[in-house]
Amino acid sequence: MKSKNIPDDIRSKSIKEAQKEIEEIIASLENTDADLEKSIEQYNRMMHLNFYIQEQFKKKANEIKKTNLQKKWQKLFQRFNMANFSGKLNKIARSTDAYLKSVFAKQDRNSFLIRPMKYSLLSGGKRFRSSIVVNTGKIFDIDYKKLIIIGSAIECIHSYSLIHDDLPAMDNDDLRRGKPATHKKFNEFTAILAGNSLLALAFEILSSKKLNFPARVKNELIKTLAVYSGSSGLAGGQYFDLTYENKKVSKKKIIDMQINKTGKLFAFCCESAGIIKELNYKKRNMLKKLGLDIGLLFQVTDDLIDHKGDAKIVGKPTRRDKSKGKQTLVNLIGYKNTLDFVNNLKKKISIKIKKYGIKSDDLLQSVEFILDRKF
Ligand code: IPE
Ligand code: IPE
Ligand code: MG
Ligand code: MG
Ligand code: MG
Repeated sequence: MKSKNIPDDIRSKSIKEAQKEIEEIIASLENTDADLEKSIEQYNRMMHLNFYIQEQFKKKANEIKKTNLQKKWQKLFQRFNMANFSGKLNKIARSTDAYLKSVFAKQDRNSFLIRPMKYSLLSGGKRFRSSIVVNTGKIFDIDYKKLIIIGSAIECIHSYSLIHDDLPAMDNDDLRRGKPATHKKFNEFTAILAGNSLLALAFEILSSKKLNFPARVKNELIKTLAVYSGSSGLAGGQYFDLTYENKKVSKKKIIDMQINKTGKLFAFCCESAGIIKELNYKKRNMLKKLGLDIGLLFQVTDDLIDHKGDAKIVGKPTRRDKSKGKQTLVNLIGYKNTLDFVNNLKKKISIKIKKYGIKSDDLLQSVEFILDRKF
């Protein structure tokens, strides 16, 4: 985008006015019934507004020295970045949902499991994992549409894990994404089977012809996601999460459990770019570790939200981890120490991401979003 392309009416706005318009556009883009062409137009205008604000901020930042005023600007800049990130996350969520809907259009409509699968999968998840795939893939110039397919497969596994996580035999929670959990809406056996079917669907999606990578790349994608979802990944982590309930467990063991139940899926979100680009072991492993850290940050923040969050905003019951005797960092070292832990972890992750240069800006913002989110 070039400075001279910014329309004059945008140029005449103050930063605040431009920010307000962005927020209005985001609100309107959230309306899923909106006309596609109008949405694209609005999206382009939002990009111009973003660019204009960024330009204004840069100008201001050059003008002011290291004073308290600069802190104020930094805060405003951070707020702007968050609004900007929400818009981008929203776009990725729409693309992911559109792809998943197209997959369901081709499924056997006579199957009784389609309805509970769709109920769980298309119920307004943030699609944050899909956004990590897209934002990591962006660093390596990987095609957006292909990244959305990979993100969609991961979101299927994530949704399956949530259906099972809420079951009476596991966390026994009745509310998910602001609606009755799948086993409440249908029944337990339907929820179990819909979960199993979503896990299988993830691999059907990964084997899609549209992902026209060399066979060895596709095979490696499928194998890695299978390993990270299974007994030494997500499912293995969930086993320890439940086994540790009401027991005294060390910080190391808690972190290890979090890394498996949540981190492994995030590891795949980042590592998939390295697999596609056939990076050497060291570079691919760096991406895997980055994903594990992002996943750990995400889960510990989820535990903080459970401790302090508002169930109405979160869309799932809160203050449940303590009553269930869950072994979390919050329950072991307290709220304040856990906040210090996440802030340090975030700094460590940001340093790693910045090494990937300017194209990693969106991934950097994703990490800011993890701590900033209220849901
Ligand atoms: C919730 O994940 C479960 C965890 C692993 C912490 P999300 O917060 O990403 O859930 P949705 O998909 O947005 O509902
Ligand atoms: C879930 O962790 C992790 C999964 C792998 C599903 P939680 O049990 O904390 O997730 P919520 O809080 O129910 O979403
Ligand atoms: Mg759980
Ligand atoms: Mg749970
Ligand atoms: Mg939780």
